[in-house]
Amino acid sequence: MEKRFYINTIGCQMNVHDSERIHALMQGCGYRPTPFPEDADLIFLNTCAIREKAEQKAYSFLGRLAAMKDQNPNLIIAVGGCVAQQDADRILERMAHVDLVLGTRAYGRLPGIIEKVSREKRRIVDVDAGETPEEKETFFSQEPVKADLGVSRFVTIMQGCDNFCAYCVVPFVRGRERSRNPEEILSEIRDLVEKGVREVTLLGQNVNSYGKKEGICSFSELLARINSIDNLYRIRFTTSHPKDLSDDLAETFGRLDKLCRHIHLPVQSGSDRILKRMNRRYTRVHYMDRIQALRSACPEIAVTTDIIVGFPGETEGDFQETLDLIETVQFDSLFAFKYSDRKGTRAAELTGKVPEKIKAQRLKTLFGLQRVLTLEKNRALVGTFQEILVDGPSKKEKKQSGTTDPGFAQWTGRTSGNKIVNFNVKKDALFNHRIHSGAQVRVYVQQAFANSLSGEIPA
Ligand code: SAH
Ligand code: SF4
Ligand code: F3S
Repeated sequence: MEKRFYINTIGCQMNVHDSERIHALMQGCGYRPTPFPEDADLIFLNTCAIREKAEQKAYSFLGRLAAMKDQNPNLIIAVGGCVAQQDADRILERMAHVDLVLGTRAYGRLPGIIEKVSREKRRIVDVDAGETPEEKETFFSQEPVKADLGVSRFVTIMQGCDNFCAYCVVPFVRGRERSRNPEEILSEIRDLVEKGVREVTLLGQNVNSYGKKEGICSFSELLARINSIDNLYRIRFTTSHPKDLSDDLAETFGRLDKLCRHIHLPVQSGSDRILKRMNRRYTRVHYMDRIQALRSACPEIAVTTDIIVGFPGETEGDFQETLDLIETVQFDSLFAFKYSDRKGTRAAELTGKVPEKIKAQRLKTLFGLQRVLTLEKNRALVGTFQEILVDGPSKKEKKQSGTTDPGFAQWTGRTSGNKIVNFNVKKDALFNHRIHSGAQVRVYVQQAFANSLSGEIPA
């Protein structure tokens, strides 16, 4: 009987992306996917180590699998991703039912490992940092498997990170920065476009330094080349590091028609003292200068950010500076996290740890402020026309409840600035307006909410 596998993915898009290729490799090993862990012969957990919560999630999922393994001793339990890379021994020690531990660069060896584990029935650990070109090829040549490709896809352009921000585990679990060859990236995107994808988000921990080490093309050159792919409508990228954001890259926002008017530029803190302790290697003034450069190249650009509250040594005064920066920049939206100690990082050794309760209070204050700012930004779009890339029918529509007026259908998509817009369109006009997933339509914005906008396509 054919064997079945189940994958559970925790963490960022890098992991989602890896899981899609692991999926393809598993199929190559004669397994087929099942949506139910209880039906699986192999369960693969792809883990994230960025904050303690993510790590706990992994251990609690693994904990729940123990009983399943008791009932079915032939079940193979595999753990991959960033926790596996960092904590293989701990996983093996704490989780006696785990058979396989694979680091973030072992996936190219997966077929051999799967065969070995089924044959030899013993625990295997592979967290080697090395990857031969053939192993890399084995992994990257896999066509990512996803039931429905959808309109928008992530494309990895680089892996790893060399920045060593004091709080961050990524350089330890993903290794040194390496860029993919531009030809490979372009051909992956062309292929996606042929399958109906209309928007790509280029992924890397620090995309500004794309190609620098390898001396291949620069990031702005790569963007220009992607911009010329026919039938691709939109390009996004994430993440940029403020220290490396060049004027040239800022100016591409005014230059390339497919590049979305949105940048995610994590600031982490508004206090120079904390930025220094974080090893971010820029100051508040530099950050503001980069925002200025972006806005002068492209006045309507939406800016979002990441913030960490309660970094070791953060005083009330430092936190006020962060709030002040948020007000000054007027971000469109942001992600904020309570600082979480990560083993092996420099920040874990720092004194001045901030109590949980204070971190929680600061997070709450910060979100309170941002909620108001986001709403203001969203309200500013009421009464304008926005070009929307259509994702598909809205959630409400899918649930069959639809709009209050049965003559209308509700669809959803995003603006160039990455804001979600739900819009109504007369059912009998759907065809005339050529509305379908992947279409670009002009929507009149009527209402603003905290996390979305709503509008209509005038008849
Ligand atoms: N490479 C990207 C993002 C990496 S992780 C960048 O440089 O911006 C995504 C976000 O998680 C970070 O921007 C940071 O805000 C947060 N983060 C990372 N490590 C953390 C930690 N130890 N505690 C709390 N938040 C953390
Ligand atoms: Fe982590 Fe800093 Fe690298 Fe981002 S740039 S992945 S925060 S070390
Ligand atoms: Fe991503 Fe988490 Fe690893 S954020 S790189 S899966 S630690």
